[in-house]
Amino acid sequence: MKKIVISLGGSVLVPSLESNNISRYVSVLKKIAGGCRIFIVVGGGGEARRYIRVARDLGAGEAAADELGIMVTRLNARLLIAGLGDAAYPRVAENYTEAREFAETGKIVVMGGITPAQTTDAVSAVLAESVGADLLINATSVNGIYSADPKKDAGAVKHERLTPQELLDIITGSRMDAGANTVLDIVAGKVIERSGIPLLVLDGRDPENLYRAIVEGTYTGTLVSKDSSNPLLS
Ligand code: UTP
Repeated sequence: MKKIVISLGGSVLVPSLESNNISRYVSVLKKIAGGCRIFIVVGGGGEARRYIRVARDLGAGEAAADELGIMVTRLNARLLIAGLGDAAYPRVAENYTEAREFAETGKIVVMGGITPAQTTDAVSAVLAESVGADLLINATSVNGIYSADPKKDAGAVKHERLTPQELLDIITGSRMDAGANTVLDIVAGKVIERSGIPLLVLDGRDPENLYRAIVEGTYTGTLVSKDSSNPLLS
């Protein structure tokens, strides 16, 4: 069975606690899980950034702020597990070995952050490498990787395809502070490059995009891979 790691941005899954997309994701994930092994890494979103900002204002250092961000990612992961019920392993995996152990049950494995100085992008890339995933999907709040931030620059152009090296070139130059909002963090870029696992960046605001990509092999987004074949159809 195909193994797929999905990085689910906190801003996509829990835009706010009250108006969250968890039940919409739960029904899509349950449908997908029938045909492949699913690992989900949940981000912290706006809530993590709020905690980080307040901690900084209180004089906390970057690593301490990161720890707070990690706690929020795990809270969001817990919410997703609550929604998935029996379909998910009941605990949030706190390291890659646990994730592999939990996967032995055949259930959906959910994790959040792991360690300071990175984001859940890095966690998802290392997890993909660790479990030997066929594909890594980053479900985020834009529909691909752009030449500039499309929310700020109207002239930004979407990359349909990138090689892992081109992705790294784009990432290098971005800053890496707690709560920083960049395309992907540098650890993720390096792991994607060394593992050769294809990465698909798509718009996760509509959970059906995930279904269309994984089950039907069609997507709108950016594919990062060494060759141009569609990893969803192989
Ligand atoms: P996210 O992965 O959610 O960051 O982690 P993000 O890029 O803001 O992602 P979205 O908005 O959810 O898509 C939130 C913060 O938690 C800390 C970092 O400070 C990060 O910015 N974090 C997360 C870590 O320090 N280590 C981790 O492994 C994960």
